[in-house]
Amino acid sequence: MHSKLKTNRNRRAFIQQGLQASLFFGVAPYIKAAPPARYRTALIGCGWWGMNVLHEAMAAKRAKVVGLCDVYERPMLASKDEVSQRTGEQPRCYKDYRDLLQRERPEVVIVATPDHWHALPCIEALKTGAHVYVEKPTSHTIGESRAMLHASRASDRAVQVGLHRRIGPHHLSGMQFLKSGKVGTIGMVKLFVTGGGGGPETPVGHTKPPTGMDWDMWCGPAPSRPYCRKLTPGGWRNFLDYANGTLGDWGVHWLDQLLWWSEETSPKTVYSTGGRPVLGPAIFNDKEGSTSDAPDTQTVSYAFENFTAVWEHRKYAGNAQEHHRIGAYFYGSKGVFHMGWRDGWTFYPKSKGEPVVHEDPSFDN
Ligand SMILES: NC(=O)c1ccc[n+]([C@@H]2O[C@H](COP(=O)([O-])OP(=O)(O)OC[C@H]3O[C@@H](n4cnc5c(N)ncnc54)[C@H](O)[C@@H]3O)[C@@H](O)[C@H]2O)c1
Repeated sequence: MHSKLKTNRNRRAFIQQGLQASLFFGVAPYIKAAPPARYRTALIGCGWWGMNVLHEAMAAKRAKVVGLCDVYERPMLASKDEVSQRTGEQPRCYKDYRDLLQRERPEVVIVATPDHWHALPCIEALKTGAHVYVEKPTSHTIGESRAMLHASRASDRAVQVGLHRRIGPHHLSGMQFLKSGKVGTIGMVKLFVTGGGGGPETPVGHTKPPTGMDWDMWCGPAPSRPYCRKLTPGGWRNFLDYANGTLGDWGVHWLDQLLWWSEETSPKTVYSTGGRPVLGPAIFNDKEGSTSDAPDTQTVSYAFENFTAVWEHRKYAGNAQEHHRIGAYFYGSKGVFHMGWRDGWTFYPKSKGEPVVHEDPSFDN
């Protein structure tokens, strides 16, 4: 799904306000102007990535953090301390996002909960009049994503999905290179995440959730299962009740690059196989506890009108022979282009005499 779900007047005004302010200051720095507006901002899901996004919002100096929400007190109170230290503000803390939205009426809401908890806060935030930045993947199921799209179109607010690889400097220049025709006719694209140690997965026992964590609310609209420390923080990615494994977590970034390059919206057919040949069968019982249950191996083939794409992930057999561990290979009649992450992008021309072209990534932090 495209990272910007809709286009309308309010949305454009919201996004362009910042741009106009910077252009204005650029041409006439000597004119005194009112400081740019700071948006009443709330974060729902104060874990690792939610705080990364909030740091950026605070650094841009366009956010006034009015509310924080998490079903676990510990990360929420740590976030509150951090916001106070950085900005002097004292955001109020909430365990239920509905209370936050009703009481604080934020203008911008960042949703960085686990995937099964993206849709409902996003839709509710739109209903209360907020613009929404919701983390990728859009949601846990196609039905939830459709409901979000519907709510987004019915509102006059902006919704952006956290597919930041659309704005990373090496992604922009790499995409320009790809679209310039220098790779020739591209007939196949391979998207992949590979590597890791491997071996059978050991289950971890079910226990009481940590003090201060509302486990029932954490499970929320998804199936309720006993707490196990494999699940959180972050481990839910590999439990299919709450997320979609490596394809849902990493795949969306690379599939988005494919849609960006091809300007396609969907393939004609999709075929997928996979399993857990190395991690072993999923375990879930009171005696042993839980293992994860997402596949350690998955391949998908996507047939588009003019090219074929394949996804491949493997959580084992990391090795030094395969040069790139992650990313997208675009196979063209003039060579192979690799769009990567920490390894930037590289073009390997077909002709031996031509030089390899490479650009490093640039990260702000
Ligand atoms: N764009 C990217 O590159 C990128 C990178 C990492 C993570 N993410 C996305 O960010 C999201 C969060 O990932 P994470 O690694 O920070 O997970 P995490 O498990 O570390 O944090 C999630 C937080 O949400 C809280 N939470 C759960 N249910 C909640 C609810 N109903 N209301 C409020 N809080 C609730 C949890 O207690 C936890 O503190 C995921 O959707 C993930 O896919 C995106």
